[in-house]
Amino acid sequence: MNILQVSSEVFPYSKTGGLGDMTASLAKAQAEAGHHVTIATPLYKGIRESFESLKPSGIELSILIGQKKKTAKIWQLYPKKNLTILFVDQPDFFVRETIYGQEDDAERYIYFSKVVAHLAVLNEFNFEIVHAHDWPSALVMPLLSIRGRNLKKVFTIHNAAYQGRFSGDKFELTGLPKSFFNWEQMEYYNDINLLKGGITFADLVTAVSPQYAKEIVSPEFGCGLEEVFKAKSSNIFGVLNGVDYSEWNTTNNPYLVAPYSADSPSKKAENKIALQHELGLREQSDIPLFGNISRFAEQKGIDILIEALQHRLNTGAVFQFAGLGNGDLSLESAMKALSERYPNQIAIRIGYDTRLAHIIEAGTDFFVMPSRFEPCGLNQLYSLRYGSVPIVRATGGLEDSIIDLQPRIDIATGIKFVEPSPTALSQALDIALELYHDKSRLYKVRDNGMRADFSWDRTIIEYDRLYKSIAN
Ligand code: ADP
Ligand code: GLC
Repeated sequence: MNILQVSSEVFPYSKTGGLGDMTASLAKAQAEAGHHVTIATPLYKGIRESFESLKPSGIELSILIGQKKKTAKIWQLYPKKNLTILFVDQPDFFVRETIYGQEDDAERYIYFSKVVAHLAVLNEFNFEIVHAHDWPSALVMPLLSIRGRNLKKVFTIHNAAYQGRFSGDKFELTGLPKSFFNWEQMEYYNDINLLKGGITFADLVTAVSPQYAKEIVSPEFGCGLEEVFKAKSSNIFGVLNGVDYSEWNTTNNPYLVAPYSADSPSKKAENKIALQHELGLREQSDIPLFGNISRFAEQKGIDILIEALQHRLNTGAVFQFAGLGNGDLSLESAMKALSERYPNQIAIRIGYDTRLAHIIEAGTDFFVMPSRFEPCGLNQLYSLRYGSVPIVRATGGLEDSIIDLQPRIDIATGIKFVEPSPTALSQALDIALELYHDKSRLYKVRDNGMRADFSWDRTIIEYDRLYKSIAN
């Protein structure tokens, strides 16, 4: 098939979270399976300088946004056979210090989606499927309902909490007929809601895990769009994300001091010492070491984590913790304060650091994810492979991907807890501490996790099946 993927983040060109990993690795796996895959994404600051093989495609599109036409120059890159990346270059919109959170995000991503909708219908590409991801690309679906009648439209929800909701006067920028601005399509309490438009106009909608696909029809997880999800529910399919093990592995990884694997796990211990060394924790192999890498946002339960760690420190539990993240400023300072109070046990790095992320996965014994909701979650999948036993709240993709210690140790891969509360997490930490000191059980759970296979092979077959179900 000839597939166009559309995403505001694609690793290694851009990434703020799992979206960048997911779209890059899905496209790569589809290309390896023999599909012709193109990804359209914005050309953000610094990409051209870092990827010298980027070349102009010769395509320039002049697209109306507000009263003005702005030209988008399209650059292209061929990272591998069957895979093309098209970058939308419009410096006024995309050369910024951060990817999101700009005052004119509405203009920026409406513009991006309009450019992509024009690209999608160019004869030279001959696309059959256009697959857009999350709110920044969602407008491509309604735009193609007018422009690209022979194209099949797929939309994936990675996170219903981010909807691209902007004041209603921005609707005009889309160039869509006014009739689309109604409560059943793109309007939401007088605002424009891009995510809603994506869901409504797609021929097929997917969510990034089966459990999340079930959860979003409820008010707790639907973030106000639950009725929209309910109306489409027979057409919303949950497909768990895969992992690109060529990026996330422990045997051929430039960031790790020593390779290890399920068949030969002993050198994980060297990575633990290296992590302790790097973070200034006491270098000791026989102390349980917990980790977390996160966007600091309400979703991730960082407040729950801080309180639970505090509980356990108060009761004198012996452990270390290595954290990396950034985002919400009050959570950043609460994390920092905890590490200042307990410098021998808690080490925190505030920032975004891919190298350190790999080192934490490899050096820790347990990886804690107390998410309030988690559409899929990639870190628990990486942790499994890195032998860092996941401790997760049973929600979304965490529920789908981790098998709890209870009742069957022979197949368990992690520890689950249900309530998103410090008490429930503290109890889970206790279970982990007990497990840590019972080495044969610990090694069994760790081994099960390291051998679990979340590669894309199976997952792209699922996408193939779904694509075919809407093909003519
Ligand atoms: P989400 O997309 O909701 O942030 P995921 O678990 O799907 O959550 O993916 C998060 C991805 O972002 C992982 O690859 C993780 O390692 C990475 N990540 C998150 N925060 C940081 C950080 N501060 N530094 C480096 N990588 C990070
Ligand atoms: C979102 C979700 C996360 C998911 C990622 C990739 O950012 O928060 O759970 O893993 O998208 O699909």
